Amino acid sequence: MSISTIGQSLKESATLRLNEIASVLKAKGEAVIHLGGGEPKAKAPLDALTAAAAMLNTGEIRYTPADGLPIMKQAVIRYTEEFYNRKVLSDNVLISAGGKQALMMAFIAILNPQDEVLYPAPYWVSYSEMVRLCHGVPVPVLAEDGSFEPNIRDFEKNITSYTKAIIINSPNNPSGVHYSKQLIRDIVELCEKRGIYLLMDDLYHRLLFDGLKPHNPYDYSTDFTDNSKLIILNGVSKMYAMTGFRIGWAVGNTKVIKAMRDIQGHMNSCPAALLQVAAAAAINGVQTGVETLRMTLENNRNVMINQLKTFNGVRVTKPNGTYYCFADFSAYEKDSRKLSEFLLEKVRVVTVPGIEFGMDGYLRLSYCGGIKEMLEGLDRIKWALDPTSPNELFIGERKLVRDWV
Ligand SMILES: Cc1ncc(COP(=O)(O)O)c(C=O)c1O
Repeated sequence: MSISTIGQSLKESATLRLNEIASVLKAKGEAVIHLGGGEPKAKAPLDALTAAAAMLNTGEIRYTPADGLPIMKQAVIRYTEEFYNRKVLSDNVLISAGGKQALMMAFIAILNPQDEVLYPAPYWVSYSEMVRLCHGVPVPVLAEDGSFEPNIRDFEKNITSYTKAIIINSPNNPSGVHYSKQLIRDIVELCEKRGIYLLMDDLYHRLLFDGLKPHNPYDYSTDFTDNSKLIILNGVSKMYAMTGFRIGWAVGNTKVIKAMRDIQGHMNSCPAALLQVAAAAAINGVQTGVETLRMTLENNRNVMINQLKTFNGVRVTKPNGTYYCFADFSAYEKDSRKLSEFLLEKVRVVTVPGIEFGMDGYLRLSYCGGIKEMLEGLDRIKWALDPTSPNELFIGERKLVRDWV
């Protein structure tokens, strides 16, 4: 059997693999605590469920236009006006099967082999593999000052004649950092000056804490023509607790959206009709769910941070948003994969190794689940790592005895 070079070299999604491991262990009756996940416990909005049920009852679930149903495109046009203060037309919008597919369509539409794509580290696990799938070159940009926010000079140093795009995800998965207004302004200016695409991955943009508000990249743009290389990517997965619905979208200039539409038409015809109807209803419907989710996450974040502060040697940067905290555990173990495996094996807690996001020594811990589970997970981690804690720990009926130092 022969597999393509790209097929052989592509890394499995670490987060999806961990989800699978957690479900297999849970199915075996193991008391696993999943602090590696990227989906909230909240239910999908009622408006979405009702709209989907009504459509299902008609029995007529057909193909839609490749770039999405008019009702969903209208919802995105309205959303863009409300949250980005930007009037766009139907030809500026592509609906996709999740934020992931919208991003992938954008990469296929803009990248030639060897083109380089820059993004700040730590970064979401899929960027590098998506860019490589298009035969491009992923270029993570590290902050020289060791923080989670590179400055514009850090980006400029990495720009070459092959640089085709910069991706910004704010608030960021995995660090939870909401990049400064200054950085967003500088990046918009840099991209416009150099003719580089700017992809704003806004999947979490309303899930901000402490009164912070999303930065609107259009505020800093001077290109109001159809040549603008700013592409906004968004979706219902994270903000509307609709991860399994798989609906996302892109907003960009008509040429790039047309290319993305044509590619999508050949790759999967269209996003599922039923799920587009559900997503449109969520976006147009009662918005209290988004705010309730945001408040729950903020509270969970506070609880997690307070708890992590009681760990000797763990360094945490308070996340400004998202579902995640990216904590530095290098005082215990510099190899984050080893540490994550150790925690799963010994105390059945799932965490995601920092190396998957481009920074070793860190673990990504999610606070999007229930508080009780989260606290128990943190207690187990502390017990496993802190040599001064008692020698025994009970997980349900099971007694664990620390036989490691
Ligand atoms: C930063 C970021 N962008 C995009 C996505 C993709 O979202 P979706 O589930 O809508 O494909 C995710 C999902 O985890 C994400 O964390």
